[in-house]
Formats: sequence, structure tokens, C-alpha cells
Amino acid sequence: MRGCFITLEGGDGAGKSSLIKYIVEYFEKESVNFIETREPGGISIAEQIRSVILDRKNTEMDGRTEALLYAAARRQHLVERVLPALESGKVVLCDRFVDSSLAYQGYARGLGIEEVFSINQFAIENCMPDLTIYLDIEPEAGLARINAAKEREINRLDLEELNFHHNVRKGYFQLLKMFPERIVKVDASRSLEHVFEEVKTILEQRVL
Ligand code: TMP
Repeated sequence: MRGCFITLEGGDGAGKSSLIKYIVEYFEKESVNFIETREPGGISIAEQIRSVILDRKNTEMDGRTEALLYAAARRQHLVERVLPALESGKVVLCDRFVDSSLAYQGYARGLGIEEVFSINQFAIENCMPDLTIYLDIEPEAGLARINAAKEREINRLDLEELNFHHNVRKGYFQLLKMFPERIVKVDASRSLEHVFEEVKTILEQRVL
């Protein structure tokens, strides 16, 4: 039986990484057969592509190049890591997936959600998540969290204007309308404990 593909999405500083630690602990306690991974990255080739995309020196990168690089990293990660786990019946918990490209490159960069979805179809061949948890936060609050968290390095996308991050959020709102069954919005402005309680309930209802 195919496993369950869960993705986490949100603007920068929404708290995905901290939440994932809680979910991992919870899955371990419940003896869920799972893997945890992230995009862009998760495997060697995709981590190499990640460093090119996020390098602060690459200021001349064109929006379409950026979208294609994310899609290329996605393809390799899907084939090498996600699909084998799903085929062996595991739950896959992935930090970001195609919705990030739709919100960031499609909407915020202005390339078009449909256009970016279509180049991603080549990469994902209809493999969409079963459940997506979208952590919603005001960009001002998200960026303040990143600046406060010393362990997180500032990357090329963090350096975008505040307006870009507002557009990313608007992009996610469009996606919530496009995929109401799949994407669940969670208010991430609250404490991590509160956010996790809500996410746990969603996981109990939809996955476990
Ligand atoms: P991270 O900080 O969650 O690891 O993500 C790295 C950055 O890459 C983040 O600013 C979001 C961005 N991103 C895109 O713009 N498009 C994508 O398809 C993905 C996966 C991430």
C-alpha cells in the first residue's frame, strides 16, 4: 500500500523547522513508519542545487532559472527519496514541496501559478501530497523570528523586500482556494505548543 505524503508549507520564519521536530518526536512515540526530509535538498544532488539557488552572491539569477532549478532539485529528491519511501508504505514528512514554487516563483515572482505548475508537472508526474499543512504568519513576524534565531543563516530569498514576502502569503491564499481538500491552514503566530496541538489533531484525523 502507498504511504502517506505530508508536506509543510509557509512563509519564511513561520516555524516549520521547529514544528517538524515536534512532529518527529510524536511519530516516534506512536511508532509511525516515516521519513523526514526537506526541499530544496534532502539528497546530495538537490543539496548542491540548493546551495546555488540560495547563495547570496547569485543576485543575477533570473526568475525562470530559479523556478527550473527548484523543479530540478524536486525531481531528483522525489525519485531518490520520496517515491521509494511511499512505495514501501512509509509516511513521508517533507519540509516544502511544489506549493512553495507556486507561491514563491508562480505568484510572488510573477511567473504565474499555472505556468510554474506546468513546468513542475514534468518533474513530479502528478505525484501530489495527500496532506499539506500551511503555517500562516504575517511576514513582519516571520522575518523578525529569523533575525532573532541566530542559528539560521540568512539566504538569498530572505533578503527580498517585505513586499515579496507579502506576495508569497497572497500566493498561499490562492493555493488554499485552489486545493481546499488538501491544504489546511494553521495560525502560526501562536506559541509552538499551540500550533503543534492543532497539527496533532489534524494528523490524528487524516493520517494515523
Ligand atoms: P527553507 O528556508 O524553508 O529551507 O527554504 C529555502 C527558501 O527557498 C525559502 O525562502 C523558500 C524558497 N523556496 C522557493 O522559493 N521555491 C521552492 O520551490 C522551494 C522548495 C523553496
